[in-house]
Order: sequence, then C-alpha cells, then structure tokens
Amino acid sequence: METKNEGQENQKIPLLTPYKMGNFQLSHRVVLAPLTRQRSYNNIPQTHAILYYSQRASKGAFLLSEAAGVSDTAQGYPHTPGIWTNEQVQAWKPIVDAVHAKGAVFFCQILHVGRVSNKGFQPNGEDPISCTDKGLTSHTRDNGVDVDESFRPRRLRTDEIPQIVDDFRLAARNAIEAGRDCFDGVEIHGAHGYLIDQFLKDQANDRTDQYGGSLENRCRFALEIAEAVANEIGADRVGMRLSPFSNYMECGDSNPDALGLYMAEALNKHELLYCHMVEPRMKTFEEKVECPQSLFPMRKTFKGTFIVAGGYAREDGDKALAENRADLVAYGRLFLANPDLPKRFEINVKLNEYNRETFIIPDPVVGYTDYPFLEEVA
Ligand SMILES: Cc1cc2nc3c(=O)[nH]c(=O)nc-3n(C[C@H](O)[C@H](O)[C@H](O)COP(=O)(O)O)c2cc1C
Repeated sequence: METKNEGQENQKIPLLTPYKMGNFQLSHRVVLAPLTRQRSYNNIPQTHAILYYSQRASKGAFLLSEAAGVSDTAQGYPHTPGIWTNEQVQAWKPIVDAVHAKGAVFFCQILHVGRVSNKGFQPNGEDPISCTDKGLTSHTRDNGVDVDESFRPRRLRTDEIPQIVDDFRLAARNAIEAGRDCFDGVEIHGAHGYLIDQFLKDQANDRTDQYGGSLENRCRFALEIAEAVANEIGADRVGMRLSPFSNYMECGDSNPDALGLYMAEALNKHELLYCHMVEPRMKTFEEKVECPQSLFPMRKTFKGTFIVAGGYAREDGDKALAENRADLVAYGRLFLANPDLPKRFEINVKLNEYNRETFIIPDPVVGYTDYPFLEEVA
C-alpha cells in the first residue's frame, strides 16, 4: 500500500499531464517556444540544428521551430533560416526527421519581418516592405541588433498584399511538403512587431485602405493569411502567435484588449488549431514586469488550444494550467538552456542558467548544443 508521501510523489504536476491538441496526442504541456538562434548560414538550416532540436525532443513533446522566412523579402537578421527555396526545404528534412525519431510533434514558425529589416537583407538592395513607410526611430532594436537609422520601409500598395499572403501560403505548403520528414504544421508569426503585427497595431499601421484604420481593417491581413494557410494545409495544422500587449519595434496598440479579443474570435471562425499568446507582462523582449492586464478574456473566447508564453518558470506555468488560464505553456530561455526541461520539471531540480551572450552567435556548438543534461551535471 502506498504511503501518503509516495502517492503525492507519483501524482503528476499539471505541466506533466497529457493533452490532446487536435489530432496530436501530447504527453506533457511544456512547449519549446520559437527561438531564433542565427546559426543558419545564408538562410539555410544547418546540420548542427539536428542535434539542437533532437536534444529538446521527447515522445509526445511539442516543439516550435525558430522563425523561418517566407520569402526573400522576409529576412531581417543574419543567418536566420528560410522556407521559401527548395534548398532550404531539403535542409530542414533531416532536422525534422530527427525530432520525429524521438516521437515529438514539430511545427515550423513562419515569418515576415516587414520593416524590421534593411536594404542589406533585401533582394537588389531594395527598401524593406511594410504596411507603412514609417521607419523605426530607435537606433537599437529590442533584440539588441543595430538599425540603420536612415532607412525607411516601402509602403505596400493594396494590390501587392495578396502576393505576401500567398508567400505565407506557399511557405506553409513547403513546410508540410518537405517529403516524408515534413513538419506537422505551422505557426504563423503574428507577434513582436514583425510584418503581421505591423498591420495589426495602430502605432505602426497608418493605412487608409481596407487594411488600415478600423480594428477589422487592421486585422484583415493577419486573417487573410490564417485563412490562406488553413485552406492550403488544413486548419488542424495551423496555429498563430500574437502579442497584442507588446510594443516591441515601436509596434504597440492603443487598445490591446480589444485587439486580442477580436483576433481570438476571428481565429475561431477559421477553426485554427491553436492560438499562442505572449503575456502582457513581457514589456521588453526579455524583461518581465507584473501588470494588471491578462490574456484570460482571450483564453475564454478562443475555442481551440490556448498556449501562453513569457517569463514562465515551473511554478507559475503549473498555476496557469491549474487555474485553466492555458492548455500549454511555451518556454523560451529555460528550454534553450535546459534540453531536458520537462524532465527537470518532473523531478523538480535545479536548472542550468542561460547565457544571453551566446543566444544569437553563429557558433554551431557553444551556447547551442553544449548545455548539459541532468546526468552530465550529476
Ligand atoms: C534568443 C531568442 C530568440 C527568439 N526568437 C523568437 C522567434 O524566432 N519567434 C518568436 O515568436 N519568438 C522568439 N523569441 C521569444 C520567445 O519565443 C519567448 O516568447 C520569449 O523568450 C519569452 O519567453 P521566456 O521567458 O520563456 O524566454 C525569442 C526569444 C529569445 C530569447
């Protein structure tokens, strides 16, 4: 017969309980957040990513890839991967294959950075595109990368917008069609001040056509992408990441509660698999500031799986699940530094500390695949 203590030890904490996300049977709720690592030389995923992702994969885990550009105008950082050329798609295959071999579910995050780019990243040195021609004013981007102050984006004409929507559709098709070793789905990156967020937020969007002005108009671009991607690969393989409360990259909104709610309702119409929202407390890319705003109204509204992210540790992630404020919790920096994070949460042991100096260096090993597993620490 079990003693009381043994019974308690055997009882799994909410983070370690199984969850069915649409057709995917997950064995726990600790998600790998999308993490750009800038080690994909010339926009091609590299073989060192095989080890990095498979270290973080386990049976029934849910992993999100770092953001992958949807086209040759989508990039804004050195050595970030793409998913628009055949070479890129082929290079993802062994990475996805290794994650699948561990029994994990793997979605590709797809991105266009819009005005968070500059001529140096654009084909033929052209201006980056955006919903606006207002450039970023601050010299240093929120992720610490310097901006050339003199550049301004080119405002997309209304008739050019369907082409960008189509780039997302094709990128999703590429992600799924990477052969037998394809991604299981895609996450549309609608957060953090990148192109979709530029359309969503009234600080950035100053358009006067059907893609600007009212809330409905500002959300149109994001929803056209959600619809196009869902029609292409099936809504049961599509999630969207949003950060209505954040104002990174000079991309804030005067009414983030209304924006978040509107999007949650609209994504219901397209029956998206999940909605992944960044907590309002993430005032900067890395800093957590407690605040009265909450994602709960959006959680209650959205009918699919609701994923939260931003500053979570073991205890508050557990609490969010126990209080039904989320179905899954995504971990960024802690998972980056702890390849066996779910196991460490399970046995509640000390975590490796992350080193932000090595987050986005091009080294194929250091700060990437050399964080020790528990057994190695012991
Ligand atoms: C090095 C680094 C790279 C990141 N890259 C991405 C990215 O590619 N896509 C994205 O949506 N968020 C990205 N983020 C944000 C994380 O997914 C996450 O939301 C953020 O780190 C807060 O969660 P955490 O407190 O668990 O780290 C990045 C964060 C860091 C630190």
